[in-house]
Amino acid sequence: MSIHISAKPGEIAPLVLLPGDPLRAKFIANELLTNPRLVSETRNCLFYTGYYKNKQISVGASGMGCPSIGIYSYELYTEYQVDTIIRIGTCGAYDPGLRLFDLINVKEAVSESTFALHAWGIHDSVIECQGDVYNTINTVAAQKGWPLHCGAIHSSDVFYSNQEGFSPLAMQHNCLAVEMESFALFANAKHCGKNAACLLTVSDLIAAKQKISPDEREKALLPMMQLALETAHHRIIE
Ligand code: HPA
Repeated sequence: MSIHISAKPGEIAPLVLLPGDPLRAKFIANELLTNPRLVSETRNCLFYTGYYKNKQISVGASGMGCPSIGIYSYELYTEYQVDTIIRIGTCGAYDPGLRLFDLINVKEAVSESTFALHAWGIHDSVIECQGDVYNTINTVAAQKGWPLHCGAIHSSDVFYSNQEGFSPLAMQHNCLAVEMESFALFANAKHCGKNAACLLTVSDLIAAKQKISPDEREKALLPMMQLALETAHHRIIE
């Protein structure tokens, strides 16, 4: 039991899929895992442990933004001996070559956030995905023939703002898209010496002002969930 997760020791698997939304965690557990068991519901941030093709996997919610994923990922790494976290989320496309529903495997997170500096004294505004899970995702996607973009993304601290145009820092680093969590996840994994990756589905085209409708969301996110689960399956040695 940690401050924000009430699972007992041993109730969380070494590999965790981490969507932002607790209802997405519930959907994955109930629709895609066998024998899912709810192991924590503190603050309604639901965590489940079950099986995907006989391999034990946990899925839980990170909440939104660096501070929230910073708390959950740190407790998972340090109090539940989790060695790999794969964040699965949505993003808004900056790159005009991206289309709604496209998938991105995040190579590096670029951010104006002070999270890494204040938490761990890491001064960089660019933090790479950690360990080799990024490569496993690319290998699995290539084996399956599933299209995947790879590159840098912008982890923003703000969803609403009065600023015109895209973040200069994000443009300087050719960020494909914007989300709000990878930077803190990668910072924690780097500090703890653990594995972290992030898969994103494009839910908004920012310049074209298009977005996936709420009705489309559940189905739209299935390919990303499938790729994350297949990656987990590929990595776990029985
Ligand atoms: N901004 C930040 N995070 C997001 C967005 C966005 O436009 N779309 C999906 N996640």
